[in-house]
Amino acid sequence: MKGIILAGGEGSRLYPLTKAVSKQLLPVYDQPMIYYPLSVLMVAGIKEILIITTPVHKKIFENLLGDGSNIGLNLSYTIQDKPRGLADAFILGEEFIGNDSICLMLGDNLLYGDGLTKILKESINQVEDNENAVVFGYYVNKPEDYGIIQLNQNGEIVSIEEKPSHPTSNYAIIGLYFYPNNVIQLAKKVKPSLRGEIEITSINQAYLNNNKIKANLLGRGFTWMDTGTHESLLEASQLIKSLEKRTGLKIGCLEEIAFNKGLISQKDLKKSLQNIQDSPYKNYILKLVTRNE
Ligand code: DAU
Repeated sequence: MKGIILAGGEGSRLYPLTKAVSKQLLPVYDQPMIYYPLSVLMVAGIKEILIITTPVHKKIFENLLGDGSNIGLNLSYTIQDKPRGLADAFILGEEFIGNDSICLMLGDNLLYGDGLTKILKESINQVEDNENAVVFGYYVNKPEDYGIIQLNQNGEIVSIEEKPSHPTSNYAIIGLYFYPNNVIQLAKKVKPSLRGEIEITSINQAYLNNNKIKANLLGRGFTWMDTGTHESLLEASQLIKSLEKRTGLKIGCLEEIAFNKGLISQKDLKKSLQNIQDSPYKNYILKLVTRNE
């Protein structure tokens, strides 16, 4: 399975923060926002990742993350010239995806929790063994702000709606989606919605029509946020700060995850210090190196 991070869009709700800076590069406490979705794909064991960004910001993402080899990844970049909708990721990514299955993560989504590796691996198996799409439901207070799923007593999806004014459930669909390869052809057939976008919800609806979509519910042990508003951006920073202060452990530290997942050796980890400026971040990696010597 390969991965795509969608990191384009105009970030209009965050203006003027996003006038000169990509939304997905804004800080979430101590790291750029994109580190968090990237860390989720790494936890899922996905190594080949395409980052889709705007013509203006592509170079900056490349400067930040390079080809990913320092963290055991193979990163590539492509441009979305205007925000045509989330499903555009599969059209833009067609060549990259090739014959593989694909995981899409939105660049402004943050997901954290114990047991994430297990649930992500199970989702990949669902896609690769049964050709099912997999989405994740998270109980929220304001479901009207999201795509939502309604489930029956057996946990099967009965309806999917994008930002309904009268939601039938409190389960938001988070910005992490797993699909078999046929998603590319489905995306090409999706007609733009009233707001002129090719919606991921239309893709999910097509899988539902064919009885080929599963939902995994993420319980209270998980934290999911999308950081698209000033308030949610600040809340995400505060949350990461509290957790990191309490434990002394970083969330979404790419070098640490690469090391823990065996993507890089202890020697590589030590070498990565050469490219990190003197900072608390460097001290954190240094501690990790010495702890494992
Ligand atoms: O965060 C989860 C929600 O994401 C889901 O519950 C919804 O079903 C889904 O439609 C989406 O809703 P949003 O309103 O949050 O989507 P938004 O338009 O804000 O786009 C999400 C991210 O994707 C954002 O970081 C910008 C980026 N993006 C968006 C579009 C439409 C692109 O890179 N290109 C695009 O064409």
